[in-house]
Amino acid sequence: MDVNLRILRYNPEGDAAPHWETYQVAVDPMDRVLDLLIKVKAEQDGSLSFRRSCGHGICGSDAMLINGRNRLACRIRVDQLGKKISVAPLPGLPVVKDLIVEMSGFFGKYRTVKPYLINDQPEPERERRQSPGDRARFDDTTKCILCAACTSSCPSFWARPEYVGPAAIVQAHRFIFDSRDEGAAERLEILADENGVWRCRTIFNCVDACPRGINITRAILEVSSAIVGRRG
Ligand code: SF4
Ligand code: F3S
Ligand code: FES
Repeated sequence: MDVNLRILRYNPEGDAAPHWETYQVAVDPMDRVLDLLIKVKAEQDGSLSFRRSCGHGICGSDAMLINGRNRLACRIRVDQLGKKISVAPLPGLPVVKDLIVEMSGFFGKYRTVKPYLINDQPEPERERRQSPGDRARFDDTTKCILCAACTSSCPSFWARPEYVGPAAIVQAHRFIFDSRDEGAAERLEILADENGVWRCRTIFNCVDACPRGINITRAILEVSSAIVGRRG
């Protein structure tokens, strides 16, 4: 079958503004959007620029706006989208070229929540042990692949780019509720800031966008509750 693939193109070295280009592409219904982009680049326009690495939903590098929703290009198939497919860069982030967005601000926010184990106790002889129940407490948020689909779909982030965003809160949650970690108070202090968790208006776009199925809103509410509990 043929699909009509529209791609929002932008080359900062020649274009005054982004513009749509349309490509007719012969596809199999089971092809993924990433396959289509690779095909266009190989057969129609070698200058088309996009990020990808693993090709299997693990690295998080090919999140983009596909038929109006943030998706991983390597996970969404033609048979889920139909014969008209539009692809644009993630909203709310500066475009570097075509489907490539500037991620340094996103990763800067990620770093502010100290996304690593904090524990100054002497190292045990073997691993720091944890019960299955304690591990389950933060299991959902370990699944994050830092694709930015959530943060870039969030209207609160669009309105206020200083908002730390759902991805950074998910990453903070992963450590705040880890029984081996001792940095929760520091992270809760950071997220109690005016650009922290209170910027979330429970709009749920993030949950819809997350390719890992993480219950992001629940994670945000749990972090908010921990901040309130800390004050109490
Ligand atoms: Fe991507 Fe989900 Fe992680 Fe957000 S929480 S960065 S959507 S994997
Ligand atoms: Fe934004 Fe998700 Fe909250 S879309 S407002 S972070 S529920
Ligand atoms: Fe790695 Fe899609 S290419 S997640």
